[in-house]
Amino acid sequence: MRLQQYLARAGVASRRGAEELIAAGRVSVNGEVVTMMGVKVTPPIDRVTLDGLHVVLPAVRTTLMLNKPAGYVTTMHDAHGRKTVADLLPLEKFPGLFHVGRLDADTTGLILFTTDGDLGNKLLHPSHEIAKGYLALLDGSPRKADLDKLRRGITLQGEDGPEKCAPAVVEVLAGTRRQEAEAVLSQRPLGTTNVSRAGDAVVAIEIHEGHKRQVRRMFEAIGFRVRALHRERIGMLGLGNLRAGAWRELTAADIEKLFLR
Ligand code: URA
Repeated sequence: MRLQQYLARAGVASRRGAEELIAAGRVSVNGEVVTMMGVKVTPPIDRVTLDGLHVVLPAVRTTLMLNKPAGYVTTMHDAHGRKTVADLLPLEKFPGLFHVGRLDADTTGLILFTTDGDLGNKLLHPSHEIAKGYLALLDGSPRKADLDKLRRGITLQGEDGPEKCAPAVVEVLAGTRRQEAEAVLSQRPLGTTNVSRAGDAVVAIEIHEGHKRQVRRMFEAIGFRVRALHRERIGMLGLGNLRAGAWRELTAADIEKLFLR
């Protein structure tokens, strides 16, 4: 948001008054005096001061869900100019939003953003064992014995050592449930990996950790590549009929559902 808007939101002055403060050289961003109008700041990353005193925005606690489409990177800023989840969010309206965990660029579905650091930490902390439900289209069809390895809990090799995964709930979908899951998974761009083949399994999997590319690596560990992945649920909160690319604010009841099993 623009610096004068930031100052006005913080209650320091009206928008006009803020412009006068900037022109008078009383405002700094990250230690540098700014006298030009229109400079953009990103709360809470940029530090804004007035006469040397830190100016902060009033804490408004907001949590949003987004139905992330494929092709968007989970970051609020990207130095390489790629499409990011931030492009889909009302950052002007809710400054200070950050993503709670990540989805790979190719993964679609439910991702949360919040301005509430306590809630974000709680959702990410392993001790809360928040369940995350995914649909995955696999390259091939695992046998029961393969899936049982995931059901018992496997250990992945991470960059910083072993990453233990708690027993996962895994189910191969059939009939109407498979068709519905395929429809969700095919939100992906046509011509990529969205077309399911008869020999490819569509599975629902629930995990409790948030290791990097965890679901893809779990299936790789039993010999199957994930062709498409969609997160449909966190705790007991699903996307409902939120369309791909759309967001909505969470209610208090939604937040309770995040912690339910
Ligand atoms: N697991 C993955 O492999 N990718 C995601 O985006 C989320 C979970």
